[in-house]
Amino acid sequence: MRDSFQRNIEYVRISITDLCNLRCRYCMPEAGVKKLRHGDVLTYEEILRVVRALAQLGIRKVRLTGGEPLLRPGIVDFVRRIKGVQGIEHVAMTTNGVLLSSMAGQLKEAGLDSVNVSVDTLREDAFVFLTRRALLPSVQEGLEALFSAGFADVKLNCVPIAGVNEEDIVQLADLARQYDVKVRFIELMPIGCAFEAGLHGIPMDEVRKRLSEEYGTLLPVERNSSLQGPAEYACISGFRGQVGFIDAMGHKFCHTCNRVRLTAEGFLKLCLYSGTGLDVRVLLRSGAEDGDLAKALARAIRRKPEAHSFLEESGGDVRDARYMYQVGG
Ligand code: 5AD
Ligand code: SF4
Repeated sequence: MRDSFQRNIEYVRISITDLCNLRCRYCMPEAGVKKLRHGDVLTYEEILRVVRALAQLGIRKVRLTGGEPLLRPGIVDFVRRIKGVQGIEHVAMTTNGVLLSSMAGQLKEAGLDSVNVSVDTLREDAFVFLTRRALLPSVQEGLEALFSAGFADVKLNCVPIAGVNEEDIVQLADLARQYDVKVRFIELMPIGCAFEAGLHGIPMDEVRKRLSEEYGTLLPVERNSSLQGPAEYACISGFRGQVGFIDAMGHKFCHTCNRVRLTAEGFLKLCLYSGTGLDVRVLLRSGAEDGDLAKALARAIRRKPEAHSFLEESGGDVRDARYMYQVGG
């Protein structure tokens, strides 16, 4: 469906849990996190109802996120059920990869179309510093399992941070030379605890510069689908895969934004930055009929804000206090 700025909203990102087995410094606060109460998290049945209603409104793609989505019991079967919803063409997942080694095959078999894995570094010490957990070997096994399961569309996400994983920029991009993957660099966003943690993101222009110094010219790739999202991709001579850049701060891609988000506790978030949205859980649990649910979702989506404002004050819009693990990126 179209929002009030004529953007075609066809993609929903659904956080299915706020729990995570890592504690990335830019995402989770040092002092631990306040978990949602079990009963506050939408059940799979409730999420499916929302997905069916959204599919009626024209949503074609679902991404499951967290926290860490693979921590939620029953996830494989849930993927199968989401994939079976009429109108849903593409089911994707964003995971930290820790649990992939034992699950990649089953997820593929359940119909999962694509997987994004967050890997900020391939070096043990930097991994432990950044995630506060010594689980890099599990992530590496997870990546191998992902390739052997035959996923066609694998993306790796790296958030470059000054003094932490700078040398990984070139090393991670090298994976796109060896494998048919997209290695994407995401600019650190001032969400949750990223800046409180004293971390400074590396601007995408700088990332591009470092890659072209190492590998030569970055040849821009044309966008080929409206579902592609905000990343800009480039080819490098001799590479099997591609590199991608998500320039969250410098470059505004709000005018082509095609997505909404559903948090684990059932809040429909209209913009990553903004707290505006709809409490879907209240509707679900107060006996709303399917038709009313769809109408309420449509009404909310029409109110999607025009642009984010990490950099300037937004005109009356409420900035969201949620952390990234509560929203799922
Ligand atoms: N800025 C940019 N990216 C972030 N992520 C989590 N927190 C931030 C932040 N503050 C990334 C994760 C993951 C994706 C879902 O979002 O690394 O790849
Ligand atoms: Fe977990 Fe992802 Fe947050 Fe890291 S960024 S703590 S892997 S939810």
